[in-house]
Amino acid sequence: MESHDHEQLVPLDGSRRSFLGVLLGLASTFVGVLLAIPVLRYIFYPVTASAEDSNWVEVGSLASVSDVQTPLRRTLDLKQRDGWLETASQPIVYIIKEGGQLKALSAICTHLGCTVPWDPGRNEFVCPCHGGTYSADGTHISGPPRRSLDSLETKVTGGNLMVKYQYFRPDVPYKEVIS
Ligand code: FES
Repeated sequence: MESHDHEQLVPLDGSRRSFLGVLLGLASTFVGVLLAIPVLRYIFYPVTASAEDSNWVEVGSLASVSDVQTPLRRTLDLKQRDGWLETASQPIVYIIKEGGQLKALSAICTHLGCTVPWDPGRNEFVCPCHGGTYSADGTHISGPPRRSLDSLETKVTGGNLMVKYQYFRPDVPYKEVIS
């Protein structure tokens, strides 16, 4: 008599099948999450990146500004991000030295926002719009401005002087950040 020694395929019972199903489900979810992370980071980067970070802008190498004697005019290349919107501008700052420390002043007149040039002949800042004047360290001397020139935060990163560029409310006696 011939013996039929065929291997018999044992059907998976229900619990085994559902266990494999769960395992596969978990694995594909895991891979899905892994793939989604960079995409989500890309999509939400503009929201999570704070506007504060985008206010820091490079002035130049520390060596190029460290021996400043009179206010040194510098035009910045500022790119600010607000959500998905990026704006570019070229604000002007003055680098000064006070008590051996480098400082930065906004060149925006605190009266009504004209750009204030340094007048080396008079040794003071003189606003061309309404004649407001400020001393070499930005202190208000005369004319309609109600406060001194606004100082800006600075730091040194990788040998470069950085300025945190901000705009302040004009024509008020106190310094208030508006962007
Ligand atoms: S804007 Fe400078 S004095 Fe008025």
